[in-house]
Amino acid sequence: MNLEIFNMEVVRALYVVSTVLFILTLGGLSNPETSRRGNQYGIFAMLIAVTATILGPQVSGNYSIMIIVILLGGSLGLLLSKRVKMTEMPELVAILHSLVGLAAVLVGLVNFINPINEYVDVEKTIHSIEIYLGIFIGMVTFSGSIVAFGKLSGKVSGNPLVLPGKHYLNLIMVLAIIFYGYQFVSAETIDLSVYPLAIMLTISFLFGIHLVASIGGADMPVVVSMLNSYSGWAASVTGFMLSNDLLIVVGALVGSSGAILSYIMCRAMNRSFISVIAGGFGTDSSVASVKTEDQGEVQAIDIDEFKSMITASNKIAIIPGYGMAVAQAQFVVNQMIDILKNKNIEVIFVIHPVAGRMPGHMNVLLAEAKIPYDIVYEMDEVNDGFKNIDLSIVIGANDIVNPSALEDPNSPIAGMPVIECWRGSHTVVLKRGMSTGYAGVENPLFFKGNTRMLFGDAKESLLKTL
Ligand code: TAP
Repeated sequence: MNLEIFNMEVVRALYVVSTVLFILTLGGLSNPETSRRGNQYGIFAMLIAVTATILGPQVSGNYSIMIIVILLGGSLGLLLSKRVKMTEMPELVAILHSLVGLAAVLVGLVNFINPINEYVDVEKTIHSIEIYLGIFIGMVTFSGSIVAFGKLSGKVSGNPLVLPGKHYLNLIMVLAIIFYGYQFVSAETIDLSVYPLAIMLTISFLFGIHLVASIGGADMPVVVSMLNSYSGWAASVTGFMLSNDLLIVVGALVGSSGAILSYIMCRAMNRSFISVIAGGFGTDSSVASVKTEDQGEVQAIDIDEFKSMITASNKIAIIPGYGMAVAQAQFVVNQMIDILKNKNIEVIFVIHPVAGRMPGHMNVLLAEAKIPYDIVYEMDEVNDGFKNIDLSIVIGANDIVNPSALEDPNSPIAGMPVIECWRGSHTVVLKRGMSTGYAGVENPLFFKGNTRMLFGDAKESLLKTL
């Protein structure tokens, strides 16, 4: 066996190992208990993938440039991951997606001008379609992710952009992309295909911006996971372009898992999956029109009253939200549940699928504070049983416990399933003031007869109960 074939076989074997590890990564990440292991599999899988690709026959020549670029990218990634706060993760994810999109565009362009790939007939057509699709999906992911980053970080308004006839605008852009796709694929020479490619690049750039800009702030979580899915498909198409099996499989894994996550989140927020893919579904129930009604007075309590309510309870449900992440109150919560257990008070945690600012945000915080998994429940597991709960302690949550989602059909979050803690005996809400949550919607829970407000930073308030 000559050295080149041996090399290819080794690379192929390493790709298979890497693929299996990536699949195990996804399996591991699906559960908080195994997520650490899942991450470790992912690190190994990526290490093997990069090593195998560098060793592979498609890479030759100047390794020193590659090492410099890897060191540069690696150090930048390390720096970012050390600096970024947990609450800024969605922005980071969005901007990283934009890089995946940009990479797909650049690889597509290089493939387009690369004279080594001299395909003929059907092969040429298929290769041209791969290039066109890869650049299109990559560009939409790139520009869409930049807008998503802007919205999530507050640099761009969270309100949806409502252009007149926006759905027609999307349709026209899609039709134009298909038309120029035909021109690109059927072009006789490379010179003739430059023109349709350049037009498609411009249209898909604008298409990505419009798709995400027309989505309301409250629906951004779904958009981020949808962009995650797009970036996977972009990588997968790039894999076809480069005839790289690993990239095809891993891209498809990211693409499909992102789509499944988007579907789960759509269900959790009562949004239509199809309209998310089409873009612009957030406008009908957007944050833009929030009515403020006089709902009466809230009943504020102090720490002593809160403590008495706790000691008078047999079963307590803790409902964490974004404010717990801001206050970094999870460690105090852990101390608190130990004390409650010693007093024979049963404590459970109830988690909403979109609590916080990223999928699994609350699970990450609770795992960080070493809260036992067996007392952590999902919203659906507890919602019917609130009549057995004496006290619900809402820690920095707002939208996810908003009854107007169920009671007010005109609410911007109408139809979103929420944690129905008001069906329990009492609720205490820990927050600093009366400001609204992410969706910018008033919360009637705060005004209910069995709700008490404990104002102040969640961590400070909880520390005083110890
Ligand atoms: P939010 O509705 O955003 O409410 C958080 C509340 O925390 C605020 O009302 C704020 O009130 C309070 N707060 C902030 N800092 C605090 C502190 N130091 N101490 C005590 N309270 C504090 O959070 P949620 O209920 O978790 O809902 C999540 C929302 O974010 C949903 O609308 C969801 O769609 C959206 N979203 C979710 C994701 C994902 S994937 N999870 C991603 C992006 C957006 P005060 O200022 O009055 O204290």
